[in-house]
Amino acid sequence: MSYRWNTSDFASGYDAAAEIIHPNYTAIQDQILGLLESHLSKGGLVVDLGGGSGRLLERILDRWPQSHGLIIDQSEPFLALAERRLARFGPRAACVLSRLQDDWSRELPSSPTSFISMSAIHHLDPGEKQSLYQRCFQLLIPGGLLLNGDEVRAGNDREYAAVLNSWADHMRRKMVAGAIPPSFHSALHGWIDRNVNHFGQPKKSGDDCHETIDTQLGYLRSAGFPLADVPWQKDLWAILRGIK
Ligand SMILES: C[S@@+](CC[C@H](N)C(=O)[O-])C[C@H]1O[C@@H](n2cnc3c(N)ncnc32)[C@H](O)[C@@H]1O
Repeated sequence: MSYRWNTSDFASGYDAAAEIIHPNYTAIQDQILGLLESHLSKGGLVVDLGGGSGRLLERILDRWPQSHGLIIDQSEPFLALAERRLARFGPRAACVLSRLQDDWSRELPSSPTSFISMSAIHHLDPGEKQSLYQRCFQLLIPGGLLLNGDEVRAGNDREYAAVLNSWADHMRRKMVAGAIPPSFHSALHGWIDRNVNHFGQPKKSGDDCHETIDTQLGYLRSAGFPLADVPWQKDLWAILRGIK
C-alpha cells in the first residue's frame, strides 16, 4: 500500500488547508522565522526536512534575499506543489525527492547554516529520528541551527490522550463547518482512527511516532548538539532546537 502522503489529493488538501487543520501552523512558522533571524541575516543554505509544498521555505526566501533553500521530501505530489510555489526564486530554491531516512547528504550544494522542519520528523521511528539528528549535526556549519516544530507527546498517557482528543475535536468541527476540502476528510478520519480510536497501539515508522520533549532533547544531545532546548511549546506541539 502506498504511503498516505503520496497522493495528489492529500498534498493539495493539506496545502490548501494547513492552517485550519493544524491550529498552530502559522504560530510555529512565525516562531521559526524569529529564531532564524540571527542565523540568516548574512544568507546561507536552509534545508527544510519534509518541507512538503514549500510554504515555510517560501516565507524564509522572501524574508532573507541572500539565503537559498532546499526541500527534502519523499512525496512527489508535495514536491510538485513546492516546485510551482518556489519557481519565482529561480536557482535560490531546489527540491530533492528522498526519504529523510536515506542518505541525501550528497544532494546538498554546500554546508547548511540551518535545518528546519515542521510536522514531518514525528513520522520517523525512534532510531530513524536519532540517525537523522546525527546526520544534521555532522552536516551543519559550526554554530548552525536545527529547528524542528513538531508534534510531541506528554509523558503521561492521560495528558497525551487529552491533547489528541482535543485536536480530533478541532478537526471534526472544521470538517462539519466546511472549512477543509472534502478530499482531505478521509485523511483526517484516518488520523483520528489511528491516534484516538486506537490510542496506545504500537507504532511503526510512517505512523505518528510521537515522543516526549525530554526524549528528543536527549537525541539531540547524543547526536552532538552541545545546546538543545525548547524555545516554544503548546499542547501537542513544540519547537525543538539544537545549536552546533
Ligand atoms: C504534514 S506534512 C507537512 C509539510 C510541511 N512541512 C508543512 O508544514 O507544510 C508532512 C510532510 O512530511 C513528509 N514526510 C513524511 N514522512 C517522510 C519521510 N520519511 N521522509 C521524507 N518526507 C516525509 C510528507 O511527504 C509531507 O510532505
